[in-house]
Amino acid sequence: MTAPPDPGPDTWLATARARVADTRLGPAAEEIGRVEHVADGIALVSGLPGARLDELLRFDQGQFGYAQVLDEGLIGCVLLDAVDTVAAGDRVRGTGDVVRVPVGPALLGRILDPLGRPIDGLGPLAASETMPVERAAPSIIERDLVTEPVQTGTLVIDTLFALGRGQRELIIGDRATGKSTIAIDTIISQRDSDIICVYVAIGQKSTSVRRAIDAIQQHGAFERCIIVVAEAASSPGLQWIAPFAGASMAEYFRDRGQHALIVFDDLTKHAASHREIALLTRQSPGREAYPGDVFYVHARLLERASKLSKEKGGGSLTALPVAETDAGNLSAYIPTNLISITDGQIVLDGHLFHEGQKPAVDAGASVSRVGGKTQARALRDAADTLRLDYAQFLELEMFTRFGGMPDQRVRDQLTHGARIRAILGQGQHAPARLVEEVALVLALQAGLLDPVPVEAIGGFRLELGALLDRKVPDIVRHVQTSGQLEPGQRERLTETLTRHLRARAP
Ligand SMILES: Nc1ncnc2c1ncn2[C@@H]1O[C@H](COP(=O)(O)OP(=O)(O)O)[C@@H](O)[C@H]1O
Ligand SMILES: [Mg+2]
Repeated sequence: MTAPPDPGPDTWLATARARVADTRLGPAAEEIGRVEHVADGIALVSGLPGARLDELLRFDQGQFGYAQVLDEGLIGCVLLDAVDTVAAGDRVRGTGDVVRVPVGPALLGRILDPLGRPIDGLGPLAASETMPVERAAPSIIERDLVTEPVQTGTLVIDTLFALGRGQRELIIGDRATGKSTIAIDTIISQRDSDIICVYVAIGQKSTSVRRAIDAIQQHGAFERCIIVVAEAASSPGLQWIAPFAGASMAEYFRDRGQHALIVFDDLTKHAASHREIALLTRQSPGREAYPGDVFYVHARLLERASKLSKEKGGGSLTALPVAETDAGNLSAYIPTNLISITDGQIVLDGHLFHEGQKPAVDAGASVSRVGGKTQARALRDAADTLRLDYAQFLELEMFTRFGGMPDQRVRDQLTHGARIRAILGQGQHAPARLVEEVALVLALQAGLLDPVPVEAIGGFRLELGALLDRKVPDIVRHVQTSGQLEPGQRERLTETLTRHLRARAP
């Protein structure tokens, strides 16, 4: 043993000596793999026996991929970026970590790719924290019941299929039936709430993504939204990661007692990217050529939506997955999977859409399995009988379509039903406030709309917000903050609406 180094005047020498003494000499093991084959965004890698499932792998020039399949001697690696720059013979190293994304308030108001890299040209993110894209869903004891409403601003949903904070509601329908529009309008509606919104675009055309972003920027509170984009042209790996990455970004807020809403637009395309990856990594195909675990993938993702218990801060994450059907076929593989995972579905119907009933919600096939309990009191009371009245009207209409002269009672019922249908229609990007919805339903049920021509109801709707703000600002404030309409207010509101509609009549 030599004497300890003399600290002396040049302490740096002492430090250096100590570090040298600490350094363990001798061979160190590092695994370096090799790309054997690369095609279609998938690399087969050999020589990394220590790699784990979902581990992030790093290629020669800094490109990343993750280990999707671990076979004996060969790893199926899904490439995440610069897909065409990886070539056979390249070297690969494990990182010992899984795929992570930046999280935090710095992401608000930004447009990101699924790895959290900005694509809006507004410079780098100032986020200091990261979270893995795959996180466990909260356990049963960490959860609370879904009891508070999310105002979607779309009357037909808020009255008939109410959405609650922490709920998962599927939006499903053929292409171009207004699915994205409902999801985007729900985001726009949060301009008046404390809910932070994450919109994940998966496998969509750039023009569709652009339209969605423009709508939110123009009408919504963009500074409280995060947009995650994996376009149709992105690698299947990026498309696959996107919803999971978005969920982690949203969970950051949920875990801090805040409220978040996430839209997955859409999971049919996500399932297709999952199938593509599975086929390319030679997993065995099952029904409709999807691998057997596609149900599990979506269940795992959607289970992350939750309302947390008080002990966990009481935050919530509401999920609106979107699914596309083919010719209205709800019993195809992916739609049935998603219907069984979620707490309800909004079904959009192509025929209704083409007849001009927009939003084209099929009231018979849609359902909210949490629903009524979460609905604001003011609306629950007003909308009580609406569903039944509407269903009866649709049946009656069908029945009387083939002629015959219905008696006065039936004619009245038809008149009233046509007004129900008129108020359930709504233009895009104009979500209603709760108080406007309450007033509309109240006017309908008091029979005030029956003498109004159906074509004039859209106009009444447009002036309603300003009318209420002008005539009954106290009721507006009370309903918006408490979600309740007191009996006295109900009479005053009815009175105001009656007077306005009478003055409006030709
Ligand atoms: N309530 C509505 N009022 C008017 N136009 C609508 C409404 N909902 C959707 N649209 C229009 O219908 C088209 C298809 O809607 P979109 O939401 O993109 O459908 P999907 O996502 O189902 O393919 C768009 O051009 C959109 O502007
Ligand atoms: Mg769409």
